[in-house]
Amino acid sequence: MELRINLTEQSYPIYIGRGVLGRLGEEIKKIYSNKKIAVVTDENVDKFYGEKVKSTLEKSGFQVFKIVVKPGEKSKSIEELVNLYNNILDAEITRGDLIIALGGGVVGDLTGFAASTLLRGIPYIQIPTSLLAQIDSSIGGKVAVDLPRGKNLVGNFYHPQAVFIDPDVLDTLDKRFFYDGMAEVIKYGCIKNKELFYKLMECDEKRILESIEDIIYTCCCIKKEVVEKDEKDNHDRMILNFGHTLGHAIEKYYNFEKYTHGEAVALGMYIITKKSEEMNLTKKGTAELIGEVLSKHNLEHEIYLEDRESILKAISFDKKSKGEFIDIILLKDIGESFIHKIEKEKISSFI
Ligand SMILES: NC(=O)c1ccc[n+]([C@@H]2O[C@H](COP(=O)([O-])OP(=O)(O)OC[C@H]3O[C@@H](n4cnc5c(N)ncnc54)[C@H](O)[C@@H]3O)[C@@H](O)[C@H]2O)c1
Ligand SMILES: [Zn+2]
Repeated sequence: MELRINLTEQSYPIYIGRGVLGRLGEEIKKIYSNKKIAVVTDENVDKFYGEKVKSTLEKSGFQVFKIVVKPGEKSKSIEELVNLYNNILDAEITRGDLIIALGGGVVGDLTGFAASTLLRGIPYIQIPTSLLAQIDSSIGGKVAVDLPRGKNLVGNFYHPQAVFIDPDVLDTLDKRFFYDGMAEVIKYGCIKNKELFYKLMECDEKRILESIEDIIYTCCCIKKEVVEKDEKDNHDRMILNFGHTLGHAIEKYYNFEKYTHGEAVALGMYIITKKSEEMNLTKKGTAELIGEVLSKHNLEHEIYLEDRESILKAISFDKKSKGEFIDIILLKDIGESFIHKIEKEKISSFI
């Protein structure tokens, strides 16, 4: 399956297919004519796919330099970025060469940011290996690293030359990360696609895995549509943030230790919808449906917020909340989302 992201100044393909990793060399040959490639990955992904990717590229005549970072968000730091710059320069990669990000969102964001800034920009390709990266972070051009005071504070918009998605690699992904990605799949159903939502309601994990290729394709199509409308995240892209205002605050409140991103977003989607339903902004019964689908995919939806004040504070410091107002994303119904502007101080009524 193939789709194209069409932007004002650039357009690039996304290939989705089981086994695409094994055909990588031939595919890249079609779009890149130099020899050198730096492949950036993390230790976990390297263990399963590092050699495979290296050898398929070498078979097609490329000279490959593999750079392996530690797994986890800590690698999205300025220190790791500097190490990565040095490793890429040590491999004598120039602006005419290519960088590949092989991994989850961490590797994708870090590598993409390095590629966007080193030597004023080196072309790169995304090979996302976590479900979250395959349906979300590898598409849309957002790349970033973290600062000690917050996530993704140093970033850029820098699109890859192509994205290669091989659903087979999800077999080795830890279950918790799979469910984490499922929260974002559910989000896409909630904001834009009723059929997807009800499919997720019907299918157990086994059936989801059987049709994961189609599910990834559907999610990528939704992200494509939203990104093409709003390349620089000025307005319309905001709907991708359904469940995230509160989700981010919950993640931050628990120091990014208790809940994964997806788990926090799951809570955010349910809590905000329950409230918007009470306020007659959302069709009755919607929160219950969201709760049901989340449970089906091993995601909690109810928590007791111990410290509302701190969570509210975390929302105010979110980099997306500008001025006195805050935009939150709500549902009219499953598959229908809208942007709702409220005064910051009224956010408390939503949690
Ligand atoms: N750029 C964007 O638009 C965007 C969007 C959403 C999230 N993000 C970012 O993405 C990051 C989270 O991404 P993530 O959830 O993929 O985390 P991650 O990159 O840390 O990957 C999760 C874990 O799974 C492992 N892994 C990945 N693929 C594997 C595979 N196929 N087999 C075995 N293990 C595998 C990784 O080593 C890691 O331990 C965050 O930093 C977040 O800010 C970016
Ligand atoms: Zn998210």
